[in-house]
Amino acid sequence: MTTYTLNSLLPARSNGLAEIAFSGVSKSYGNKAAKSSQKVLQHVDLSVQRGEFVSLIGPSGCGKSTMLKLVAGLTSPTSGQICIDGMTPANAREIVSYIFQDATLLPWRTVEQNVGLRLELEHTTRERRQEKVAALLELVGLSHAAKSYPRQLSGGMKMRVSIARAMSTKPRVLLMDEPFAALDEISRDHFNEEILRLQQEQGWTALFVTHSVAEAVFLSTRVLIMAPHPGRIAHDIPINLPYPRTEATRQLAAFEDYITTISKTLRGVQSQ
Ligand SMILES: Nc1ncnc2c1ncn2[C@@H]1O[C@H](COP(=O)(O)OP(=O)(O)OP(=O)(O)O)[C@@H](O)[C@H]1O
Ligand SMILES: [Mg+2]
Repeated sequence: MTTYTLNSLLPARSNGLAEIAFSGVSKSYGNKAAKSSQKVLQHVDLSVQRGEFVSLIGPSGCGKSTMLKLVAGLTSPTSGQICIDGMTPANAREIVSYIFQDATLLPWRTVEQNVGLRLELEHTTRERRQEKVAALLELVGLSHAAKSYPRQLSGGMKMRVSIARAMSTKPRVLLMDEPFAALDEISRDHFNEEILRLQQEQGWTALFVTHSVAEAVFLSTRVLIMAPHPGRIAHDIPINLPYPRTEATRQLAAFEDYITTISKTLRGVQSQ
């Protein structure tokens, strides 16, 4: 069997462009029946460099998921432009992966078949697919559950399958929409450390949505606080905590300070 190394998952070199760039992006959702439209995002400018981990936090309905859907090419801006490594979202689909809150596994497929789904769609050969899936399952600690079905897994295990599937096509950009919201605090802390370890190994750029300030601070190079009506980026806060981020990071006074400041800012945004 060919050895499948992590190096083969590493993305190609950057050409120096911002990995994700929003310029003057507005988004309205129309309601044809009511002949009306709702402005969800207004004039969003954002530049995310290669390898950054950027979290979006803000009140419900402020447009966080919409931001991710725009990058994934699942919806289009009403005005403005989005570039992913210089490409339109439609052309960048191959380098963008996403993980949503509910893990969205196919119940009739085993763990290994779920992980291999994107590879099948890419017409990867069966042999190569088996090798890749085995390596990915090892990466997320699920080799023992390869033949299980989603209904036989805990919430945390389902999330691991979802992560493995998202990693299967060497993402350059990983979009995560509240992926750990359903987990208990200890599992969530553990996943937070794991996801940073995976990013370290694989070098992708992350756009991450959460309602947890502590999670955003722990994971991020920058936290964007969004304000509603219409959705926009109200604050852009760099997180200068040292790496590697571990359990010890959570004990730092600076970690607590970031949480206090961001929570206060968030309360200000929410009361607007
Ligand atoms: N497909 C759609 N059609 C019409 N309106 C939509 C659609 N998707 C989202 N919206 C509206 O756009 C606004 C922003 O939604 P979005 O899902 O981006 O918010 P969010 O910040 O992710 O909220 P939450 O924290 O609750 O997940 C909401 O008012 C929502 O009702
Ligand atoms: Mg959302």
